[in-house]
Amino acid sequence: MTDDRRRPAAAAGPDVEVTSASCSADGGHATRRLPVMDPILPLGGTAASTPAVRLPAVGMPTAATPPTAGTPDGVPVIDLADGTKTYATGPSSVQALRGVTLQVDRGEYVAIMGPSGSGKSTLMHILGCLDVLSSGTYRLSGQDVSAMSEVDLAEVRNRRIGFVFQQFNLLASLPAWRNVELPLVYAGVERRVRRERAIAALERVGLADRVEHRPGELSGGQQQRVAVARALVTDPDLVLADEPTGNLDSASTDDILALLGDVHTQGRTVVLITHEADVAAAARRTVRMRDGLIQDDTAVLAGGVR
Ligand SMILES: Nc1ncnc2c1ncn2[C@@H]1O[C@H](COP(=O)(O)OP(=O)(O)O)[C@@H](O)[C@H]1O
Ligand SMILES: [Mg+2]
Repeated sequence: MTDDRRRPAAAAGPDVEVTSASCSADGGHATRRLPVMDPILPLGGTAASTPAVRLPAVGMPTAATPPTAGTPDGVPVIDLADGTKTYATGPSSVQALRGVTLQVDRGEYVAIMGPSGSGKSTLMHILGCLDVLSSGTYRLSGQDVSAMSEVDLAEVRNRRIGFVFQQFNLLASLPAWRNVELPLVYAGVERRVRRERAIAALERVGLADRVEHRPGELSGGQQQRVAVARALVTDPDLVLADEPTGNLDSASTDDILALLGDVHTQGRTVVLITHEADVAAAARRTVRMRDGLIQDDTAVLAGGVR
């Protein structure tokens, strides 16, 4: 059995030439080359290696769908119905997701747990629009993203999802505020507005006095705070955190969990993937994966009340 859906297309070249003022990282004074590979996303470091995650060259957004002001009430942020994912590896294949149904409402804080190989990363890639299902349906804030093109998925990711990764994924050469503004560069937001929003996001995570610091001049916990600010700067429907404390000492872990707690309290929908029970305990709801299936879900155990 192979993946019967469209696979995201491989990207064309190593760089994109950005010439328009709205897309240029330095305000359009000179032609500047930006990497095609979205620097925010991991470079295939996980088991379910992320398919070439690339943003469209110039002219974001692609306007495949009109922008919406957040998720309407009553529409779940995540609505995954009977999702399967099969990886074809040579003559054999692995069914990493075997029929996963999951709804997450606006404002929920959910931890996804499970042993290694249970399908957490695969599920995260689906939920984050980094990969597509083999069968089933995935609606993100009511929008069916099950069979979208790579270009449209990139636009949905940029507009609706804020990512936080274990490795922070910050660009070492850029000061904190430049890292935070990056999703807005890709969204085509004007330079002055980008800077204002980046600095406001850094203030929100308690780093107002570090906006000009480069990642190497910040502690691990502070770097992850910058990554959280970057995740929030686009005002996303969903904050998706994959082992966000995996590289942090216990004090910084508490710090980042408190920050994600604040993000949730301020009304954000947060999905956190972890294999650590004490990290999962920070969330209001825990979904446990096993062998490509949801084994249990505290929301269901509680009688379906989320
Ligand atoms: N790109 C891939 N190609 C083939 N098999 C994969 C790929 N990614 C993951 N798998 C397999 O799918 C299953 C689930 O993997 P994964 O989603 O990474 O689990 P987890 O994140 O819970 O450790 C595992 O059996 C893994 O070996
Ligand atoms: Mg994993």
